[in-house]
Amino acid sequence: MPILFCEKTNVFHLFNDRVSYIIRLAAGKYPLHVYWGKRVRAIRDDVLSRLTSYTDETFSLHELPLDVLPQECPTFGTGDLRPGMLHIRHADGTHALDLQVVSHRILTEKPPLSGLPSARGEQSQTLLLTLRDAYSGISVELAYTIYDDIDIIARSAKIINNGTSPIVLQEAMSACVDFEQADFSLLTLSGAWTRERGEFVRLLVPGHQGVSSERGASGHQTSPFMALLAPNTTEASGDVYAFALCYSGSFTADVSVDSFGMARAQIGINPFNFSWTLDAGSAFQTPEAYLCYSADGLDGMSRQFHALVHRRITTGKFASSRRPILVNNWEATYFDFNEEKLLSLARCAKDTGIELFVLDDGWFGERNDDTTSLGDWFVNRQKLPDGLAGFGAKLRALGLQFGLWFEPEMVSPISCLMEQHPDWCLHIPGRENVTSRSQCVLDMGLSAVQEYLFERMSGLIREAKLAYIKWDMNRSITNARSMALPPHRQGEVWHRYILGVYALLERLLNAFPQLLIESCASGGGRYDAGMLYYSPQVWASDNTDAVDRLKIQYGNSFGFPMKTMGSHVSVCPNHQTGRTAPLETRALTAMCGSFGYEMDLTQLSDAEKKQIKAQIELFKHQWQLHQLGEYHRLTDAQNDRWFTAWQVVSEDKSVALVQLVLLAPRANAPVLSVRLRGLQEDAVYEDDGGTRYTGAALMKAGLALPPMRGDYSSIQIEFQRLL
Ligand code: DGJ
Repeated sequence: MPILFCEKTNVFHLFNDRVSYIIRLAAGKYPLHVYWGKRVRAIRDDVLSRLTSYTDETFSLHELPLDVLPQECPTFGTGDLRPGMLHIRHADGTHALDLQVVSHRILTEKPPLSGLPSARGEQSQTLLLTLRDAYSGISVELAYTIYDDIDIIARSAKIINNGTSPIVLQEAMSACVDFEQADFSLLTLSGAWTRERGEFVRLLVPGHQGVSSERGASGHQTSPFMALLAPNTTEASGDVYAFALCYSGSFTADVSVDSFGMARAQIGINPFNFSWTLDAGSAFQTPEAYLCYSADGLDGMSRQFHALVHRRITTGKFASSRRPILVNNWEATYFDFNEEKLLSLARCAKDTGIELFVLDDGWFGERNDDTTSLGDWFVNRQKLPDGLAGFGAKLRALGLQFGLWFEPEMVSPISCLMEQHPDWCLHIPGRENVTSRSQCVLDMGLSAVQEYLFERMSGLIREAKLAYIKWDMNRSITNARSMALPPHRQGEVWHRYILGVYALLERLLNAFPQLLIESCASGGGRYDAGMLYYSPQVWASDNTDAVDRLKIQYGNSFGFPMKTMGSHVSVCPNHQTGRTAPLETRALTAMCGSFGYEMDLTQLSDAEKKQIKAQIELFKHQWQLHQLGEYHRLTDAQNDRWFTAWQVVSEDKSVALVQLVLLAPRANAPVLSVRLRGLQEDAVYEDDGGTRYTGAALMKAGLALPPMRGDYSSIQIEFQRLL
């Protein structure tokens, strides 16, 4: 029974074997946050004592010092002057909201969230706390799901207008946690296009700190993720409290430290440019937030997020099975291709063992550069005379599956679609529209737009027998005004947009359950749990430089399993950085993600083709370890100067792979050694050279590596546990 309620003490205890989360109703009405951390034994435990006085009759309801009490759902108008979780404007223009618990339910089935992706509920229980503002009739349902096997609590809120007049929701966070002290560092992931998800750590200070996106997408610049680290937290030890959001639009993840040194952490839809009119009788559902507590440092935190994405978020046949190894023609040809050129690439790919051919941008309309034709999802017969069906048949005759690129959410100003439906694109009448990469954004909240895209895309998936689509999105959203909404509802456009994206993805997957979707937003510009619910892999970055990828993949690994990262071997000198790295290193780096190639294979020497064939065979042999194994960061890739190392271990700890890339060769170098993780201490492991070690020796003393030479040379060592 992972959720218990004690009527006598008014306490809810959510727990699994490792973690407890405790809520107490002050004066039987206000949900206070009592505890979140290592499992405590029972409701009687003295973790409750410090808040006991607020649950008896010492204080009348309106004398409760809510401004200094840790709360679960703080609002404006109760005496708590810290940032609230919900902000509502009533019909009379006032804002107060006094939410008190009126009932609760404990469910064994986790309810899905209407219109939004969310984690599945196997092995879980859900607490639904219903709160009500007696003055307005507004109620809020707070949902908390605790899993038996994953140390993550899923939280969301549903706001229901049971009053008689419309209200305006100005802010609706998905989760709020109050910490009684702020002695934490805040870890966030930030970057830019081609430099996604660098790790940044800062000490908390009074005031607001956090990350947010105001772009209509979660963004390259940062991620809907933050972690609070207790002092001295490392990869292997220390208390970590992390927050992530299952949402792909503008978000905020914020910690505010008050004058008493308390820290309030919140995550949810960004209130900037957001407002939602809730008519009487209607409801608003927030996205789902994930709260992860790890007593085992950052490594422990990542293991929980990886498990959540792997076991409860990615769905469909590709959640656990091997994804096809692909070749993508983008860096091989860009827009300059015809069928013969593509087929020679395909033939070469087939010879090396590649399984899926992905035709990227440029196959439709009159698109020979990035200035035209988005939205005109009709094949360009000059490039592909037999159409997509004919081209697909030729690929299948070679023994390859067919995958195709789309950028469904966009329209080029120069396109038939724009001529026919200028109102389908987001724009503000009377203002010049802002283009970016010569494109405008479709109003994905419009059902006509969704209908058009579904009809076009499903027709092509069927006709060309597509096994895969790459769903790209190459610009941020500006001028978000929808022709379908009245002025007072324009604050709904961004959220309706992302709901429209989810609805289309859902519809396509219902129609084609075997379809593999790889999402992309100029690389990792929309890499979040929301997209991963529909697309089990995301093109991690437009930067294919293997050495830069070490950093990007390292940053991603804090919150996402490696198999979610589309990762390709590309040509050298690399197209983004001009760097040259050995083919072996490029493959080693790409193999730890969702593996593929993106280069003109026809230009390779026979020796290189042979090498690629061997890499593909190796990946087919090792894929379970790479994609389903436990991943450990062994060095800090963002700051490494000498070498970067990482490790994967099978679930039963019987096989481990250590991988290392030398960043800067040194003359007369000291012994290079790394400490391994996640092995069985008392077991004996043998490496591929026949040397034996105990698990304890490898984890405590470390593994001494053979001397390495050469820029960006790399090594992979496999360990097998002996019986
Ligand atoms: C951006 C993507 O990240 C690239 O891989 C490629 O698909 C281009 N768009 C095509 O326009």
